[in-house]
Amino acid sequence: MSAGIVILILKIAVVAVTVLWLGSLVALALGKTQLHGRINIVFFGLTLAALIGLEIVVRIISPGIFDNYQHHTESAMSVHLVFSVPSAVLLFVMLFTGLKHKRNFHIAMGILFTVLWTGTFITGIFLLRHELP
Ligand code: HEM
Repeated sequence: MSAGIVILILKIAVVAVTVLWLGSLVALALGKTQLHGRINIVFFGLTLAALIGLEIVVRIISPGIFDNYQHHTESAMSVHLVFSVPSAVLLFVMLFTGLKHKRNFHIAMGILFTVLWTGTFITGIFLLRHELP
C-alpha cells in the first residue's frame, strides 16, 4: 500500500462522515435532537475508526510509509494537522457534552468544532495530494 492510496481512502472517508455530520445539523435544525445525537454517535465512531486505522497502518503495518510523502508536502501536512488534531480531541468533548446535555457548552464547542472541521475538510481534501508515490 502506498501513501497516496492511504490519503485517497481517508479523503473518501472524510467526505462520507462530513455528509453524515451535515445531516445531523439538518436534524437539529428540524428540532429532531435525538436524531442529531444518534447520527453524531455514528459520526464519532466512524471518524475514530478511520483514525485508529490510519495509526495502525502508519505505526504497525507500514512504518515509514509517509517518509517520502512528507518530503513532498511537508507544509500542507503541517497546516492540515493544525486543524485535524484539535478537531479529533474536540470530538470527545462534543460527544460527552451532548450526551450529558450540557447545552450551552455543547453549542459553544460546536461553533469551534465547525471551524476546525471545516479547516480539516478543506486542507485534507484540497491541500494533501493523493497522487504522490
Ligand atoms: C455544530 C455542531 C453542533 C451543534 C450546534 C450541536 C448542538 C446540539 C444541541 C442544541 C443539542 C441539544 C442539547 C440539549 O438540549 O440538551 C445537542 C445534542 C446532542 N449532540 Fe450536538 N451539536 C453539534 C455537534 C455535535 C457533535 C460533533 C456530536 C458528537 C460527536 C454531538 C452529539 C450530540 C449528542 C449525543 C446529543 C444528545 C442528543 C439527545 O438528547 O439524545 N453534537 N447538540
